[in-house]
Amino acid sequence: MNVLVVGGGAREHAICSAVKRNEARLYSVMKNLNPGIKKIAYDFFLHNETDIEKVVEYASKNKIELAIIGPESPEEAGLTNALQKKEIMVASPTKEAAEIETNKEFMRKLMEKYGIRGGIKNKAFSNIQHAKEFIEMLDGNVVIKPIGLTGGKGVRVAGDHFDTIEGAVSYAEDIINKGIGGRHRVLIEEKVVGEEFTLQAFCDGNSIYPMPAVQDHKRLLPGDMGPNTGGMGSYSHKSGLLPFMSADDYEEAATILQKIVDALKSEGRIYKGVIYGQFMLTGEGPKIIEVNARFGDPEAMNILPLLKGNFVEISMKMASGNLRSKYIDFINKSTVCKYAVPEGYGINPKEGEKIEVDEEGIKKSGGILFYASVNEKDGKIYTTKSRSLAVVGISDEIEDAEKICEAGLRHIKGNVFIRHDIGKKETIEKRIKHIEMLRGI
Ligand code: AMP
Ligand code: GLY
Repeated sequence: MNVLVVGGGAREHAICSAVKRNEARLYSVMKNLNPGIKKIAYDFFLHNETDIEKVVEYASKNKIELAIIGPESPEEAGLTNALQKKEIMVASPTKEAAEIETNKEFMRKLMEKYGIRGGIKNKAFSNIQHAKEFIEMLDGNVVIKPIGLTGGKGVRVAGDHFDTIEGAVSYAEDIINKGIGGRHRVLIEEKVVGEEFTLQAFCDGNSIYPMPAVQDHKRLLPGDMGPNTGGMGSYSHKSGLLPFMSADDYEEAATILQKIVDALKSEGRIYKGVIYGQFMLTGEGPKIIEVNARFGDPEAMNILPLLKGNFVEISMKMASGNLRSKYIDFINKSTVCKYAVPEGYGINPKEGEKIEVDEEGIKKSGGILFYASVNEKDGKIYTTKSRSLAVVGISDEIEDAEKICEAGLRHIKGNVFIRHDIGKKETIEKRIKHIEMLRGI
């Protein structure tokens, strides 16, 4: 079967590897030359992923039967809809269903309209005076968000990015005036406190089939300090839960995602593809922070290597609306994933630096390598401004998976930065204590 994967990051490298395991003929459209994808693809097209016309032309020319879209922007641009018009199966949501990610106001309103649990106080404004009143009502304990996509960099949080009501109002004003995120409108949310976790699920338009939970680390520096990034690394546990989470928390999060899918269906927006819930586990249970219409990056790298089922078959069943749990099975192991990023990433990243990647050494150490935004020139690897590559370790316990991950990372030489605290015992114990404190245990 000819399968097209759109996107050239580490998440897409993980998706491509999962496709390849099932002996499909792999095609790729990517805007950067990912050396890992290049190596395993039958053919690739180096091009802007949101140029719908050209991507559809490439898919038609190569008789693609199934397409999987990694990032959110091509979904927003209507790639799924356009491929479907050519009768190509697509295991990713349409533009309308993907609005659950691309329009944060729509997501919050949908949850309210259908009375879905896990919501938080929020309101959207185009008028700064009204926004200011709402910020004051919440005592400045707010999170300020553009409505549309900003590549994970538009959200500002009280206590992290501003400390006063004036600071919050000033950023809200910026969003309205400059149209940050594509709209002259701002979403103000109450700030909730807890531990974040990710729950991803396969969805065929009707039912969700949740995967093991993952915790990502958004902050640049050890101890969760520094600016927010696209994600520095993540881990999962063999139980499918996280060390600070109960089975009830997991079930509650899955129920919330299922209800969101049901609500989308009632609105005539059938959701097919992977759905991603970003939750905050609070003292009162899981609350929705955001919903994404795709796999997470790095979270896809934790989960896809554990999948025992046939990913191509699962994707076909998502696209055709008849997925069943018998197709889905995961290896019961723990995982740790860490990104290597260019020195200065998140502030002033060093672009064009050569990094040496000993692929054989990583393999021998038991780690799995996924390339991200690097450039390959004459067989050598160079950094861009974004994350460079990730290594995943898999073992029974998180501690051992972390050691494998680190052993793999030792085979990378160059000017890169890694958050070595991810998956370490002390980091995880801190999370457990945090939740115990919030729950009054
Ligand atoms: P997002 O881009 O929506 O994932 O937001 C980036 C980060 O901001 C999240 O990972 C959270 O750490 C934080 N955040 C977003 N919304 C809230 C909220 N309502 N309360 C507390 N933290 C939040
Ligand atoms: N890990 C965060 C994201 O994929 O949006």
